[in-house]
This record gives sequence, C-alpha cells and structure tokens, in this order.
Amino acid sequence: MYDLHAHILPGVDDGAKTPEDTVEMAQVASDTGTKIILATPHRKDVTEESSVGHIRELIEDMNGRITDQGNDLKLVLGMENHLDVDLPGEIEAGRALPMNGGRYMLIEMPFFGKPNYIEDVLFKVQLQGITPVLAHPERIEAFQNDVDLLASFVERGMLSQVTAGSVIGYFGKRVQAITNNMLQRNLVHVLASDTHFARGSRSPKLGIGIEAASAFVGEEAALAMVVDTPKAILEDQTFEVARPLESVAVRKWWKFW
Ligand SMILES: [Fe+2]
Repeated sequence: MYDLHAHILPGVDDGAKTPEDTVEMAQVASDTGTKIILATPHRKDVTEESSVGHIRELIEDMNGRITDQGNDLKLVLGMENHLDVDLPGEIEAGRALPMNGGRYMLIEMPFFGKPNYIEDVLFKVQLQGITPVLAHPERIEAFQNDVDLLASFVERGMLSQVTAGSVIGYFGKRVQAITNNMLQRNLVHVLASDTHFARGSRSPKLGIGIEAASAFVGEEAALAMVVDTPKAILEDQTFEVARPLESVAVRKWWKFW
C-alpha cells in the first residue's frame, strides 16, 4: 500500500516527536502492508518554524534510520498545505510542496466555515498546473454541510483523500455516515492514514478502512484507494476517475407518517 498523508517527520509538527517515533511508525506501517509513505508535515509549521531544506534533510536521515532497522519502507516528501490566499504565491516560491515532486498537491481546507476565497484560490492553483487532492473532506465543515460542494470540485478535476479511520468510525458516527455517503457518490479517490503516532486511533495502519469501504464501492475500487491510485499519484501519472453520482436519497423519518 501507499500512504499519502502522514505526520511522520520528527519534531516538525504535531506528529512524530523524535526520530525513534518515526522509525516505530514506519515499522507499524511496514508490518501492516505499507511500502511507501508520503511525509506530509503542515506547511505553516515548516515555513514558520523550520524550512523546506530542513525537511528534505530529515527525509534522507529518516530513510537511513529506517533502512538500518532492516525495514524496506521508504519515505518520500510532500506537505499538507493549508488553503489560504497565500497558497499560490507559496507554490511559486517553492515553499508549498506537491506530492513527491509531481503535479498533485495535498490541500487542506479550513476545518470550520467557508471563507469566500476558497474557490478562487483552488482555481488559481489549478492554473499553476497543480491537481489538488483535498485532505479529509469528511472532517471539513463546508463539505459535511454540503457534499455537493465536494462533488463540484471533483467535477472540476480535483481529487479527494479520506482518512482510513473515518470509514470505521474513529471520528464519530456523523463523520462515518458522511464518509459512507461520499463513498457511495464516487467522491473518495484515496484512503490515507493521516497518522500522528505509532499506536492508537492515529496509527499508520492504512488497511483498516478497506473492508468497510468495500461494502460501498466493491473490493476492487476500495483496494485501488490504497494501492493503484496513490501509486499513480506518487509516480505523477494521470488516471481516470469515476464520475460523481447525484446525491443519494436519504429517507426522512417523517415520510413514514
Ligand atoms: Fe494531516
């Protein structure tokens, strides 16, 4: 499997604290079937507290330590990029990084509210030749309140990355129900761990959502979310995605009366 969202670099953000944490997370990931992890530290933590040069060095250093442990898992570099008005300029300046140096970029919408610059900034980013991969839309208020908004972004060529734990209820029943709805409407392209720690609900065990996702999209499509699609993204390839489906009718309780 290929994990496209992980806070695994040590001492950079709210994920791994030490190199030992990083090596342990890599071991848990490898033991549960992951081959490559895209390290995605939060952009502002890097640009305000650290630097792109530092995280490039960290990748090399951590890969050396992981290999020394006899683990053949590899880390590659990306970033979780907050969506704000500075993003296009930060991309231009090389301070907002795409996934593994390619054309895809992990972008995190604000968790709450729906600032009016969102669509404008995403459009500018696309004009820069970048394909946004929207991080955990099932946990973002604007998409929770309006799944059609996510559908409209997918129609415009963007992709969506759901957190594997959301599929099995790690973020509560509401997030799980929204995730199921997104799966049914072909609005999930990638499952990723968004790991912060080696153990617990934010561990790097990426396979946890596959079975539950299979119930909605079939086994082949669910597996593609952790293998074929993230691999193609890391290799900077293009691929076809299923057309978003119209909203799934939800029967309201009052219809029974
Ligand atoms: Fe994250």
